[in-house]
Amino acid sequence: MAVITIRRQVLALMSFLCFCSVTGQVSYSIPEEMPKGSFVGDIARDLGLDVKRLKSGKARIYTGDSAEYIELNKERGVLLIKDRIDREAICAQTAPCALHFQVILENPMEFYSITVEVTDVNDNAPIFKRGEMKFRISESATIGTVFVLEQAIDLDVGLNGLQSYLLKPTDNFVLKLQNQPDGSKMVEMVLQKPLDREKTDHLSLVLTAIDGGEPQLSGAVQIHVNVLDSNDNAPVFTQKIYKSTLRENSPPGTIVITVSACDLDEGSYAKITYEILNSVDGASEIFDINGETGEVKLVGNTDFEKKRQYQIHVQASDEGGLTDSSKVTVEILDTNDNVPAINVMSKSSLITEDVQPGTVVTIVNIQDPDSGENGKVQCDINNNIPFSVSSTSTNFFSIVTDSELDRERASEYNITVTCSDEGVPSLSSSVTLTLQISDVNDNEPVFERSSYEAYIVENNTPGVSIFTVRATDADWNQNARVSYILEDSSVNGVPVSSYVSISADSGVIHAVRSFDYEQIKDFQFRVKAQDGGSPPLSSNVTVKILIQDQNDNPPQVLYPVQTGGSVVAEMVPRSADVGYLVTKVVAVDVDSGQNAWLSYKLQKATDRALFEVGSQNGEIRTIRQVSDKDAVKQRLSVIVEDNGQPSRSATVIVNVAVADSFPEVLSEFSDFPHDKEYNDNLTFYLVLALAVVSFLFITCLVVIISVKIYRWRQSRILYHSNLPVIPYYPPRYSDTLGTTGTLQHVYNYEVCRTTDSRKSDCKFGRAGSQNVLIMDPSCSGTMQRMQSEKSILDEPDSPLEKTRNTSKSTERRSADRRRLVLYIFRLF
Ligand SMILES: *[C@@H]1O[C@H](CO)[C@@H](O)[C@H](O)[C@H]1NC(C)=O
Ligand SMILES: *[C@@H]1O[C@H](CO)[C@@H](O)[C@H](O)[C@H]1NC(C)=O
Repeated sequence: MAVITIRRQVLALMSFLCFCSVTGQVSYSIPEEMPKGSFVGDIARDLGLDVKRLKSGKARIYTGDSAEYIELNKERGVLLIKDRIDREAICAQTAPCALHFQVILENPMEFYSITVEVTDVNDNAPIFKRGEMKFRISESATIGTVFVLEQAIDLDVGLNGLQSYLLKPTDNFVLKLQNQPDGSKMVEMVLQKPLDREKTDHLSLVLTAIDGGEPQLSGAVQIHVNVLDSNDNAPVFTQKIYKSTLRENSPPGTIVITVSACDLDEGSYAKITYEILNSVDGASEIFDINGETGEVKLVGNTDFEKKRQYQIHVQASDEGGLTDSSKVTVEILDTNDNVPAINVMSKSSLITEDVQPGTVVTIVNIQDPDSGENGKVQCDINNNIPFSVSSTSTNFFSIVTDSELDRERASEYNITVTCSDEGVPSLSSSVTLTLQISDVNDNEPVFERSSYEAYIVENNTPGVSIFTVRATDADWNQNARVSYILEDSSVNGVPVSSYVSISADSGVIHAVRSFDYEQIKDFQFRVKAQDGGSPPLSSNVTVKILIQDQNDNPPQVLYPVQTGGSVVAEMVPRSADVGYLVTKVVAVDVDSGQNAWLSYKLQKATDRALFEVGSQNGEIRTIRQVSDKDAVKQRLSVIVEDNGQPSRSATVIVNVAVADSFPEVLSEFSDFPHDKEYNDNLTFYLVLALAVVSFLFITCLVVIISVKIYRWRQSRILYHSNLPVIPYYPPRYSDTLGTTGTLQHVYNYEVCRTTDSRKSDCKFGRAGSQNVLIMDPSCSGTMQRMQSEKSILDEPDSPLEKTRNTSKSTERRSADRRRLVLYIFRLF
């Protein structure tokens, strides 16, 4: 303060010195802002006035309307600061600034002009009107863009006035001052480095204005720069490629992935919209993107088998039109959604039954579009059929026979092929093939029986069907068509075809001729059954035809011999007792069985009371004592009937002579009709017979003697010579033997049948005079013989044989002898 004061005094002094030379006018110079009461100037002295004068003149200051900043101290005759002087308030920017006033004195009136120059003091700092400056500058503003700043104001003038500006920091902007014509400076801020909102969206600068006073004063203002966004950033996807997987057949609406892009800009420039660009693979139809959220969503159907991967080109764009694109790779995952498809490649629906095991029946191809396990397929076929399935190559399976086929067992197979994949759950499908087995001629015809026996009654009409053979063939159709063929053979030297024929189709056997049981009792042949296969198969069977007897032959009486001319008579001595065996009617029937079962009946008799005929054996016996009154000549008519249906019969006349001597008989029988020629013949034969018989008889005697030595052999020879034909017994015949005691006739006629000629009946006769028949009266004896005869036939070496032969020949000889006697007798 002291310094200031001194300076002011110096200044005042100087200004005083300066004005003192000017009469009537005094000037002073003072700085502004001097305290009240500060000394301005010694006016009394400067005006050359006495202080007393000032008092007397009542000196005063006249300022007119202006404010009085200066007062006059009359005591001291000096001017003092009355009020604070602010130069800026008085003169503003005007310089220099002076206060003008007058000092007026009275008595006499004196008038003095006083000028007080007020000099500036740096009492004002530069100031900015606004507390802060705000700018909104787009980040896209180009370098060199000028922004005008507000000027600062410094009320001081001159050096104390505003001198310069400072801007800090200077990263982006520099200050540029431009002098104006009015001497002021225009303050500008120039962009020298681009702004980046994304780096700094707000800048804060300080502009400082500095004056040139001492001390220097300054004022500062804050400049706020808001960096405005410009769309200088394109959206950027977070990934260049997005990868996702999706199960095929996922339901529409499934979110696949969410893509996202970011934009460093803000506001609408950062508002991103997503979209899917069209693509060749049609992904844009299958996927949709939420434009706001970037969720990629399935809207269509995916099929792994059609397309395994999709490339979705997505684009993100902000509202400023900048874009980015990215790619979403969607891998479709397989699900087991395809049933294996079975294609039958080669369908042979018919195979022959003789194919080898392992023959391929068919091949199936399997298609399963799924992948991996889902597409791995295994095939199987139903059980219990002679086929198996095997994999030939990938996706091909062949069905082969695994054992032999037999159409006769199964002519058709339904092969169900089931194929399933290995997915979880597994899918499967199946097809059924119907396979027909065609026939091969592998079965021969088989007769219903291993052999056949058929009966036919004799005297059949030729062409009659006898019976039917039948053979079946398990094959089919032509292979099973059986034809019947008669195989060549001969029956008794005659081809069998002249006996029977067979119908090739029906197997009916026909008789070609009429059979005669008495000629042929049975025969057999073979019938072949042949099928129509190629080559044909055949089998044969034996057929035996048994011819059944018919009662077509009447009994034939062998004894007594019925001749036209001669009369044969049996002699009965008058002394004969009751039951005397007169003779025996011997008859045969060439039929057999019942048809040959003969019975005898007395039809007519001279004296019915005298004779009877054994119904079974034909023996004629007396039934009472012969008396003298009985006629010599007795004539019996015996009827022989067989047991056939209807029965046939024969009648025989038996002459009996009841007499004791030949003459008696002769006289009685002389009236018997004679046949000269017959008798001549008979005579010849008798003589011949006599000679032969005699010879034989002698031979017999020799033989009988020889028997002692060559018993067995000789008897055999004898037997054979007598019985060359084996008698025939109907099957039931032997059964009755045990119950009926009178079947001697059977034996008898069998014996007789050995010689078919009546004339040789007497072969074993012997000349002699015996007229008594020695018969074996015991029935049991006869039966014994009969039974044993059968066994002897079976065993020809039986010892019984000889006995039988002996007794037989004895009996025969006795009968023959009697007849011989009669003939001889007649000769005389
Ligand atoms: C095979 O199938 C057919 C039709 O389903 C049927 O008629 C036939 O009887 C079947 N065959 C066999 C041998 O099962
Ligand atoms: C008849 O069949 C038998 C087997 O039953 C056979 O041995 C024989 O050779 C066959 N004969 C003919 C002529 O075919």
